[in-house]
Amino acid sequence: MDIRSLMVLIFTLAIASSESGFFWHVTDFHYDFTYHDRQLSCNPNAKPTNPGQYGDFWCDSPWKLVNSSVQAMAKLKPNADFILWTGDTIVHASDKELNYEINAEVLTNITDLLKSVLPGVKVYASFGNHDYWPNNQFPPANNRLYNDTLDRWESWINDSSQHNNFRKGAYYTVKTPHGLRIIALNTNLYYTSNKVTVNVSDPADQLQWLNATLAHAKTNNEPVLITAHIPPGVHTPSILIWMHEMFHIPFVDILQTHADVIVGMFFGHDHSDGFKVLPNKSGKLTSPIFIAPSVTPWRYRIPNKIGPAHNPGIRLVEYDKATGRPLDITQYYLDLQKANKNAHDHWEVEYEAKKAYEIPDLTAATLANLATRIKDPGSSAFKNFWRFFTVSPPAELLESCLNDCHSAVYCGLTNFDMDSFRGCQNKMISGASRLISHEWMMVTLLASAFILYVNM
Ligand SMILES: *[C@@H]1O[C@H](CO)[C@@H](O)[C@H](O)[C@H]1NC(C)=O
Ligand SMILES: *[C@@H]1O[C@H](CO)[C@@H](O)[C@H](O)[C@H]1NC(C)=O
Ligand SMILES: *[C@@H]1O[C@H](CO)[C@@H](O)[C@H](O)[C@H]1NC(C)=O
Ligand SMILES: *[C@@H]1O[C@H](CO)[C@@H](O)[C@H](O)[C@H]1NC(C)=O
Ligand SMILES: *[C@@H]1O[C@H](CO)[C@@H](O)[C@H](O)[C@H]1NC(C)=O
Ligand SMILES: *[C@@H]1O[C@H](CO)[C@@H](O)[C@H](O)[C@H]1NC(C)=O
Ligand SMILES: *[C@@H]1O[C@H](CO)[C@@H](O)[C@H](O)[C@H]1NC(C)=O
Ligand SMILES: [Zn+2]
Ligand SMILES: [Zn+2]
Repeated sequence: MDIRSLMVLIFTLAIASSESGFFWHVTDFHYDFTYHDRQLSCNPNAKPTNPGQYGDFWCDSPWKLVNSSVQAMAKLKPNADFILWTGDTIVHASDKELNYEINAEVLTNITDLLKSVLPGVKVYASFGNHDYWPNNQFPPANNRLYNDTLDRWESWINDSSQHNNFRKGAYYTVKTPHGLRIIALNTNLYYTSNKVTVNVSDPADQLQWLNATLAHAKTNNEPVLITAHIPPGVHTPSILIWMHEMFHIPFVDILQTHADVIVGMFFGHDHSDGFKVLPNKSGKLTSPIFIAPSVTPWRYRIPNKIGPAHNPGIRLVEYDKATGRPLDITQYYLDLQKANKNAHDHWEVEYEAKKAYEIPDLTAATLANLATRIKDPGSSAFKNFWRFFTVSPPAELLESCLNDCHSAVYCGLTNFDMDSFRGCQNKMISGASRLISHEWMMVTLLASAFILYVNM
């Protein structure tokens, strides 16, 4: 081979090896089929009398918003390689307002919507805690919901070897045509509100299966992408772990053990936009975690606390087809107030991660570096992160995040258990109070100088 054809070959290989693909990540539709009448999901103290056609910050999604978000995906990138759909399709409402049949109808309608609006695009779907009736009580064994949903999603999974896993626990794995292994989990089995899996040592044998599936992927040199509803780690700024400790510890342990094959993890449930970086067993930050914001704009409410206002979002992820590594996120959002006012659903780019954060890609190393920039509460990196967290709400509804809030956010990026999280936060707080006392000393000195001066 002459030098010229060798150069051409090398150039071609270089291009081929950096070929990028795209997938959508959509989550937490929470479709309120009563939005225009009973408004089951709306805050009882703030039920809108004239609800906007695309939704309201105090309520779950009307059909028009659900449809609009799926139409937007088809318009903006109809030929994505696949879609991750991380659950919570059902309205926030009490068990007595819902039943198996209502939930089944909603799951069928939204599955059909995705199939008809994005034909030929595979959707790798997982359940959210609200998709079971009664709410949150996912069983660790076969039941009607798992069987019926396998029928709904079978054409996307398209692999009969996964039927047993799905019937048993609603988890499965598929290999994309590009050699990327996708593992879809049912982390609702570990949710602290799930009362039926308490004391079950490994619900539906999912942990053991995950451990073995990851080990197998390593042997076969397959990059792995994990998708599920409830994320691991410390949720911030509220500071809680969503999972029972007896499941969270081994779950995180398995992810850490196999961190070197996990190129990305994609979750929902938080309703806010975030990321984390998981360390491997030697503490090296190895696997990026991405939490996508919800389609529903619903503000959560728990006693004494109202969640922040947030706009609906959908995201497009660019990844390296050869390695599976995420390269960029284009986060789209619907400015809800504007959409209602103009009676028009214009999904705009909220941000492009590489541009907004001035980073080259979304690998763990890059995100670890971004985390150190976020440590400075005055940095543009943190200010962006915090605005994106609630999907760029109207300026007057953007809450501030200072001191404890900021240190919680920062420490939650890389600490996955409460002890190391608290350790990180205490270090930040004592550092900050040293700073404050230093400043205070300066003020006192200046004040005494001033008093000395006026006394002269
Ligand atoms: C969804 O919206 C599109 C575009 O506005 C409309 O043509 C279609 O009929 C809607 N589909 C459903 C099922 O509401
Ligand atoms: C589901 O779709 C059917 C057929 O379009 C419709 O009649 C029904 O009202 C929908 N269900 C809900 C809960 O929106
Ligand atoms: C689910 O489907 C399997 C296979 O067809 C069947 O053996 C099982 O009884 C079904 N479970 C329920 C709860 O209907
Ligand atoms: C399902 O998988 C089979 C091979 O196992 C393949 O021939 C077929 O094209 C696939 N169908 C779809 C819709 O992807
Ligand atoms: C779980 O085990 C504890 C301790 O043995 C027991 O007190 C509790 O009732 C059990 N809970 C359930 C739901 O079985
Ligand atoms: C995962 O599998 C490895 C062996 O590959 C084993 O050493 C480890 O204990 C397992 N982890 C859990 C949490 O089961
Ligand atoms: C953690 O990752 C680093 C860097 O890739 C590697 O050198 C180290 O061996 C890994 N540790 C374990 C326990 O796999
Ligand atoms: Zn949700
Ligand atoms: Zn949820």
